[in-house]
Amino acid sequence: MYPLSDKDFNYISSVVYEYARINLTDKKRALIISRLSKRIRALKMSSFTEYTDYLKNNPGGSEFQTMVDSLSTNYSLFFREPHHFDFLKETILKSYQKGELSIWSAASSTGQEVYSVLMTIREFSRENNKKIQYKLFASDISRKVLKKASSGTYDLQDVKNIPRPLLEKFFLKGSGDNSEMVKVKKDLIRDIKFFRLNLSDTSYQLPPMDVIFLRNAIIYFDQPTKIELIDRLHSYIKPGGYLILGHSESLSGISEKFKLIGKTIYKRIDL
Ligand SMILES: C[S@@+](CC[C@H](N)C(=O)[O-])C[C@H]1O[C@@H](n2cnc3c(N)ncnc32)[C@H](O)[C@@H]1O
Repeated sequence: MYPLSDKDFNYISSVVYEYARINLTDKKRALIISRLSKRIRALKMSSFTEYTDYLKNNPGGSEFQTMVDSLSTNYSLFFREPHHFDFLKETILKSYQKGELSIWSAASSTGQEVYSVLMTIREFSRENNKKIQYKLFASDISRKVLKKASSGTYDLQDVKNIPRPLLEKFFLKGSGDNSEMVKVKKDLIRDIKFFRLNLSDTSYQLPPMDVIFLRNAIIYFDQPTKIELIDRLHSYIKPGGYLILGHSESLSGISEKFKLIGKTIYKRIDL
């Protein structure tokens, strides 16, 4: 581990904030030291100052993106917070009649969330003999996680909470050197549009959504960023559509344009 001066800490936290709106407060000092010391070692540098000088001399270079990737939390799980998938089934899919259902996983990380949505739709459709037209979008600021998401490749360990029948139906098991891996079947991967998107950008071209999953992302943003982002996302949700947050997130004090209708499930209010 390398020592981190206030000057280097302030530089790193300000450039990360400027780019991704990820708020690296003083509490994250230890995280910066542990994660970026690995980068300093990998680049054969000898200090944080050498590292920050390198970033300053290579603005927008690949190390900047690698640094943001190293400092962001990409943890995800299949069927994480299962009540959201129950809600999708019991409320959204049950009431679906016609047209195209648009769902966006807006901080998708390595894809577990969007594949869980897709498996839920496919299973509901089969069990209820109901044809559902849908469009699924998955985006993240990190190209690295998107690459993994769109490859659909996971360790056996990552898929242990997928019910066995779904695992057998929607995944292929690796063999030989890949015997500890599974891969999402191609026709599922093809159903999802993966793309890089920085949520702090002020506008994006997307169709109006029935549901946005924005789970376990705003927790890393400060209050002004949350307010601005939620206000913007409101305009991307169809009237009566839903915004779904993560387990420790809330819109309290952030927006009055949504009504809480379930555990971390919000419905767009139309006045
Ligand atoms: C903890 S993961 C959440 C994954 C998934 N939604 C879940 O709940 O399991 C948070 C993700 O937010 C992404 N992220 C952070 N800042 C972002 C930004 N400004 N724009 C888009 N994605 C961002 C990170 O790259 C990371 O993959």
